[in-house]
Amino acid sequence: MSLIEIKNVDYSYNDTRKAVDGITFDIEKGSYVTIIGHNGSGKSTLAKLITGLLPVKNGSILIDGLEVNEQNISAIRKRLGIVFQNPDNQFIGSTVKDDIAFGLENKQVESADMEGIIGEYAEKVGLTEYLDYEPQNLSGGQKQRVAIAGILAMKPDIIIFDEATSMLDPKGKKEIKKLMYDLAGDDTITIISITHDIEEVLQSDDCIVLNKGKLFMHDKPQKVFADAEKLRKIDLDVPFVELVREVFAKNKIKLKAHDLEGMVAELCRYRSDH
Ligand SMILES: Nc1ncnc2c1ncn2[C@@H]1O[C@H](COP(=O)(O)OP(=O)(O)OP(=O)(O)O)[C@@H](O)[C@H]1O
Ligand SMILES: [Mg+2]
Repeated sequence: MSLIEIKNVDYSYNDTRKAVDGITFDIEKGSYVTIIGHNGSGKSTLAKLITGLLPVKNGSILIDGLEVNEQNISAIRKRLGIVFQNPDNQFIGSTVKDDIAFGLENKQVESADMEGIIGEYAEKVGLTEYLDYEPQNLSGGQKQRVAIAGILAMKPDIIIFDEATSMLDPKGKKEIKKLMYDLAGDDTITIISITHDIEEVLQSDDCIVLNKGKLFMHDKPQKVFADAEKLRKIDLDVPFVELVREVFAKNKIKLKAHDLEGMVAELCRYRSDH
């Protein structure tokens, strides 16, 4: 049994068009899955269906065998955290500290432990100086950091990042990506990351490509990107390293297959470190 099983899920906000159209796929426990696709392809809608923020009317979503529905939602929410692409509507507390504490209180963390946990996660996202600020007065990127700290502090075993670094500057993006990769390395934690960052996709175990609400591809990232023509058909980007591969092939620059693989892997590593 897979940890998350999505079967024939449809969703329409209105009668004219399906935002999510007949989607079926599974996610294994401990995996790191990226979801890519154009604006409006249904990525956030799918994330909201998985978290029970939108009702699954057609098809079914099971998490650890438990159907996502009103009855099971509180059990599911205990295990699942989501960071949205627009952090504006996700603050409850009057200060950053309260906001991070809110999720911990819901999880019935002892108050004696709370201060330490809040400090630890505020530091991880670079917000130590902002603990007494009102979240509403922070910049978009800082708000995103608060939302990330709040979710990580609760230690959910499934985390959905919906373009969670979209408002961060390059340094912030790198820091949060590092946090995400560390979490991804823990095989008890399952990560779903909705992203436009092709280089991030290359770090994931599986990649799902959505197009106009439909599942367009679902494979290992290297396989997805190896089919550059298919991606170009729907105008999606091809990673730099694949372009290198193409240029080598076009110019008949011959390298032994494993040298090319090694170079591509090295370029990927170098790119994510610099
Ligand atoms: N609240 C809503 N009411 C009506 N239509 C909506 C609503 N939210 C999304 N949609 C529509 O559903 C479709 C899918 O939207 P969704 O937000 O899931 O896309 P997305 O893949 O997350 O895009 P992006 O990359 O821009 O975040 C779009 O056509 C969008 O206009
Ligand atoms: Mg979205």
